[in-house]
Amino acid sequence: MELDFHTARALLDWQIELGADEAIGDVSVNRYDLPESAPKPVARRAAAAAPAPVAAPPVVEAVDAVAEARHMAGAATDLAGLQEAMAAFPHCDLKRGARRLVFSDGDPAARVMIIGEAPGRDEDIQGKPFVGRAGQLLDRMFDAIGMGRDREGGAALYITNILPWRPPQNRDPNPKEMAMMLPFVTRHVALAAPDILVLMGNISCQGILGRKGITRMRGQWTEGLDKPVLPMFHPAYLLRNPVMKRESWADLLTLKVRLGEREHI
Ligand code: URA
Repeated sequence: MELDFHTARALLDWQIELGADEAIGDVSVNRYDLPESAPKPVARRAAAAAPAPVAAPPVVEAVDAVAEARHMAGAATDLAGLQEAMAAFPHCDLKRGARRLVFSDGDPAARVMIIGEAPGRDEDIQGKPFVGRAGQLLDRMFDAIGMGRDREGGAALYITNILPWRPPQNRDPNPKEMAMMLPFVTRHVALAAPDILVLMGNISCQGILGRKGITRMRGQWTEGLDKPVLPMFHPAYLLRNPVMKRESWADLLTLKVRLGEREHI
C-alpha cells in the first residue's frame, strides 16, 4: 500500500506515542508477508503432544561475573584504564543493545561527583551522561549554586552513572546488572577521589547505599564508599513532579553550605 506523507507521518506519531523511540532496522519488515515461514498452529499442537526426548543439559562453566568485575576494576590504575576495563567486560548483556559505553563527563578532579542511574536515549547517542532533558535540568540546578560540569576548581562537577550502558526501553536496571557493574563504580569513586558524592534517585541509592526510599532519604547526609553522601531526587522525577523542585533546592543549598564549611572534607 502506498502511503501519502500525512498518513505516514500520522502512523509514525502514533508509534512514538506508544513508546517506540527508535528504529532497529534500516528496512521495515512487513510481518503480514511472513505467513509462509510461520509455523502452522496444528503442527505446533502435535509437537506439544509428543514430548521430545530430554537432552542432557549442556555443560556450562559457571562464570562469577561479579568476581571478574572486581578483578578487572581493581586492576585499573587510572580512569582511562577503568574505562577500557569496562569496555572489555563481557558479562553485562546491556552492552549488546547499547550504542556506546557512557563513562563520565565533567572534571575528574571535581570535589563533587554525581552518580545517576543509567544512560537514556540521548546519552546512548552522545556517549555522555545526563545530556537529555533530565540532564539539562541537572545542569540548570547546579548552575543555580554556581557549579557545573564545564566549570573549574571548586565549582567543577564530575558526573557518572551506576550503569554505563542504556537498558532497553529505559527500564530499571535489574539487581544482577547492578551487582556486576558495582565494582566498576566503586573503583571509579576511588580513582576520582571526590570529597562528596551526590546520588541522584533510588537506583543510585540502592547501588551505593544498598537501600531505597528517596522520599525519606533525600537531603539527609549519610556515608557511602567512605564519602559523605547526599541523596537527591532524580531530575527526571523532578520533570514529572515539578513541585518537588523546592526540596531539591533545599538539598542544593545544604551541599553548598557543606562545601563552604571545609576546604577538604
Ligand atoms: N538519567 C540518568 O540517571 N543518567 C543519565 O545519564 C541520563 C538520565
